[in-house]
Amino acid sequence: MSVRRLAPKELQPASFTFSDKDLAFAREQIAKYPPGRQASAVIAILWRAQDQNGGWVSEAAIRAVADLLDMPYIRVLEVATFYTMFQLQPVGKKAHVQVCGTTPCRLRGAADIIEVCQSRIHHDPFHLSKDGNFSWEEVECLGACVNAPMVLIWKDTYEDLTKEGFGKVLDGFASGNPPKPGPQNGRQFSAPITGPTTLKETT
Ligand code: FES
Repeated sequence: MSVRRLAPKELQPASFTFSDKDLAFAREQIAKYPPGRQASAVIAILWRAQDQNGGWVSEAAIRAVADLLDMPYIRVLEVATFYTMFQLQPVGKKAHVQVCGTTPCRLRGAADIIEVCQSRIHHDPFHLSKDGNFSWEEVECLGACVNAPMVLIWKDTYEDLTKEGFGKVLDGFASGNPPKPGPQNGRQFSAPITGPTTLKETT
């Protein structure tokens, strides 16, 4: 897990304004909570701000979310810096790859996946590829250990990866045709590769 800080000043846009569509979404989220509890909508709205901002949250976006929710800036900054679902600096335009590096994934080959990231994207995490289309980082367990090793790209997981399988996933994003999320070795969810062995009767 790396230190999570805001991007340096030179990368920070001067301002952030919610689009009409995203502002309407934010108001819907706020309305789900009792009066005075609007801060409960902070994750959903930060997530939307990240989407609008090209996949990362700038300091201006954090301030805009805080103003909207009437929260101190530091409280929204705490949320944005705590969860790895929020990116704090510009990410690849086509894919930001979050590689799980926790024990089950490590034992099943996460180091190979990181090697592919280093050779195809950039040697170091949080750096853009030369064409600006890709970036990567290592994160802690993403809850799909039974399908280790795995990565999260945007909102989808790609599981049961090998070097080759992961290479194809990256090829798919590069060409604008990402593969179907989930296991990349042909098995159904976490069933054995040879097919399900239990709960087969339909009655
Ligand atoms: S250890 Fe990788 S998903 Fe849990």
